[in-house]
Amino acid sequence: MDSILELDRLDVQVLVDNVTDTLSSAPPFVAREQQVLRRAGMLRASGAAMCCANHGLSLVLSATIGGATRRLLFDAGPLGDAVGWNGSRLGVDFAAIEAVVLSHGHWDHAGGLLAAFDLISAANHGRAVPCYLHPGMFAERGMSQSDGGVFPMDFIPTPETLAAHGATPVVADTPRAPLEGWFYLSGEIPRRTAYERGLPGQVRRAPDGRWIPDPLLMDERFVAARVRGKGVVVFSACSHAGIVNVLHAARDAFPDDTLHAVMGGFHLSGENEAIIAETVRDLGGFGLTTIVPAHCTGWRALGALVRAFGEPMVAPGAVGKAFRFGD
Ligand SMILES: [Fe+2]
Repeated sequence: MDSILELDRLDVQVLVDNVTDTLSSAPPFVAREQQVLRRAGMLRASGAAMCCANHGLSLVLSATIGGATRRLLFDAGPLGDAVGWNGSRLGVDFAAIEAVVLSHGHWDHAGGLLAAFDLISAANHGRAVPCYLHPGMFAERGMSQSDGGVFPMDFIPTPETLAAHGATPVVADTPRAPLEGWFYLSGEIPRRTAYERGLPGQVRRAPDGRWIPDPLLMDERFVAARVRGKGVVVFSACSHAGIVNVLHAARDAFPDDTLHAVMGGFHLSGENEAIIAETVRDLGGFGLTTIVPAHCTGWRALGALVRAFGEPMVAPGAVGKAFRFGD
């Protein structure tokens, strides 16, 4: 695949995140939730005017070259109501979203997908929008329990259902260049580190109905963009591949570029708290300028990242925040 275009600027609107934090001060490239809401027209502070936080992630990526801006929705969080509620308050222009990527087959990223397409379709008068999917994300999944049972996860909407809501499904496991190369979407992420082991205990239904081990989540992919004067910005929604493996793959995809920033869920919570030390150590080897931990990163990893890299290199995400990469 040819390299992707170089953007003048990349704006990121956090539409859904686990955390709400409108009061903490932020570096100049980050707008806090209330600043974004007031820009979008909020006239009076109230609970009904603010965003809702949910366990999940959804980012609106707006890429600008010259006077043109193109938008891609990266995941849709766990709940359609949150997409509509937050989107309307933040002033998200759903008509302008031209592509949607589902990072992997988990409910906390896909649960809001049909509602997002309904909003896009209603706003753009029914014009179909590509939805990038991986063939491995549709089998039923669950977590094995200590008593031998399985706690099931919600299903991912099928390509047929998504098509009925205004998507043009693009089901593939190889890299893509959405919106004619304004963005990069990876293929499957190679596993290199010894300590990043996916999601231990995850299982999925085999065609014969049995639950079989599925810890690696090979359907996970990352999105990236190239920003002039900065470098590559990497978006990794849940990092079940391991955020260090994700960054190795990003460096391979962009061998001639600097890796400027990484943003997303780094999944260093739960059992993965055991690999915080190795992950933080190896994150230091990529020459990053900015690290934006969000979603499933977990507070212990956030603390470790701040201790290792300090501010403003570490700039945590939260629902409603807006990040600007480039001038
Ligand atoms: Fe997640």
